[in-house]
Amino acid sequence: MTPCKRYRIGEFEVWEFEELDSTNTYASRLRPEDKKDKTVILTGWQTGGRGQQHNRWESEAGKNLSLSLVLKPQGVEAASQFAVSMVIALGCRDFIARRTDGCSIKWPNDIYVGEQKIAGILIEHTLSGNRIAESVCGIGININQRRFLSDAPNPVSLAQLTGGETDLQAALAELLECITVRYAGIGDYRELEQEFKAVMYRRMGWYRWRDAARIFDAEIAGLDEFGRLRLREPGGKTGVYGFKEIAYC
Ligand code: BTN
Repeated sequence: MTPCKRYRIGEFEVWEFEELDSTNTYASRLRPEDKKDKTVILTGWQTGGRGQQHNRWESEAGKNLSLSLVLKPQGVEAASQFAVSMVIALGCRDFIARRTDGCSIKWPNDIYVGEQKIAGILIEHTLSGNRIAESVCGIGININQRRFLSDAPNPVSLAQLTGGETDLQAALAELLECITVRYAGIGDYRELEQEFKAVMYRRMGWYRWRDAARIFDAEIAGLDEFGRLRLREPGGKTGVYGFKEIAYC
């Protein structure tokens, strides 16, 4: 492993590595006493970047933001762990929405601009009893990459959308500032949920969905108290779906 540079950005302590297999893997392996709330593991190059559902995360060396933010939220119950997801997704969305229109959160926590994915989030919680002890919040934001080689559907970067290059250090500081604002509200689940619903991808209108049994049309009716997606079908029937139980067609 490459040696790291350590520095502060506001309340965050950043550990920056030239190369890591995965910032999430590195952060998860640290001893609990070695990582404080708001420790950031950052690298310019992940050799084994991890995505949702055991996918790989593509990120060209030195072009994008790839980091894991360790949070130790005080008093957040395990049942309310979606609050952490909302904090991170809203923070990332705020950061991107400052630079381009049409940014939304594709439930549960992909960040889209129009129909294209600009950022992915992979959160791994450690629980202690019925509380969250620690959340490793992996964030990958496509910033300056202009060509994507993997078969991931619809990737896009800020550079492709705006035509300009973004300074990664300045972007990191701004992203952390956006997350700080949202993290301050982690105790107010209802407020977070309202803000989240207001910027959800496909929040209005009828779309096609697929569950284990069938393909059907439905509109988003909201979220339940665990952050599961509520869908309403044309006849009024409402279903509740956890992540992996439903797919966008
Ligand atoms: C997704 O599939 O949408 C989630 C992608 C998460 C990628 C980030 S990059 C930094 C952190 N380290 C990883 O290995 N993955 C996350």
